[in-house]
Amino acid sequence: MKRDFLTLSDITPEELAALLERAAALKAGTDSSACPLMGKSIGLLFDKTSTRTRISFQTGIYQLGAQAIYINTQELQLGRGETIEDTARVLSRYLHGIVLRTYAHTTIEKLAANATIPVINGLTDMHHPCQALADMLTIKEKKGRLRGVRLVYVGDGNNVANSLLEAALMTGVELVIACPKGYEPDNRIYTRVVSGGGRVRIVTDPEEAVRDADVLYTDVWISMGQEREVERRKKIFRGYQINRRLVSLAKPDVIVMHCLPAHRGEEITDDVLDSPQSVVIDQAENRLHTQKALLEMLVK
Ligand code: CP
Ligand code: NVA
Repeated sequence: MKRDFLTLSDITPEELAALLERAAALKAGTDSSACPLMGKSIGLLFDKTSTRTRISFQTGIYQLGAQAIYINTQELQLGRGETIEDTARVLSRYLHGIVLRTYAHTTIEKLAANATIPVINGLTDMHHPCQALADMLTIKEKKGRLRGVRLVYVGDGNNVANSLLEAALMTGVELVIACPKGYEPDNRIYTRVVSGGGRVRIVTDPEEAVRDADVLYTDVWISMGQEREVERRKKIFRGYQINRRLVSLAKPDVIVMHCLPAHRGEEITDDVLDSPQSVVIDQAENRLHTQKALLEMLVK
């Protein structure tokens, strides 16, 4: 039976812990099994642009012995009206897995329901679970644990926030989200997640949120697909910037995270993003290691 990874909840808290261990071993080079996906082909279907997700999957797939086939979906017959269902059925006869980056989350659900091979979410408007895997590995590396770590997310309750919320609940991270009213993460997540002991608090005041923070995290105010809302969103999120003053209210050893790409001067200032407390490049690197562990787990 094939398994998909559309949200974090497609794996158990125990599987998540094991995946992070495996990713750390792959990163450390202590792994002995060479090329477990030898001879396989993984399709990377992208409806939106990408730097990290695309390149980390492409290189990771190659390192596991398989080939990655990158496809801009506009170049498929899908762009001319072939259905997602037919595309899923046909690609399942050629490929051993599909990574999809798209808009509506229902699109990836439809693809997964009709594919007989694993489907991995490379970002939808609602979720970015591969990002959350790398985020958890990064926090574990930098803080030595996940349970009890206070993670404060400042900004839009978007796809990145939704997946962080899921990851926090599953790993025992104490997550505080500071966002404007009406921009909270999706509260349906609470009913779905198998809890690993994490707690989540949602507030509107970033200064209240950052007290005692071990980790500060933010993402863009305007996500891909929201380009028509630029001016309105810039006004709404103006007070939700990670800057020197906000960082000074957190613990002295706080680390700063961002999934990237950053809009410097909007959700985060240059001085913070480029400071020694910023771990964003290590975080980006960890996309590679965690996705390799994920592919090993799902692709048969
Ligand atoms: N963080 C992330 O997913 O980056 P890309 O949009 O560059 O893939
Ligand atoms: N929230 C952002 C994340 C980009 C990696 C977006 O969806 O554009």
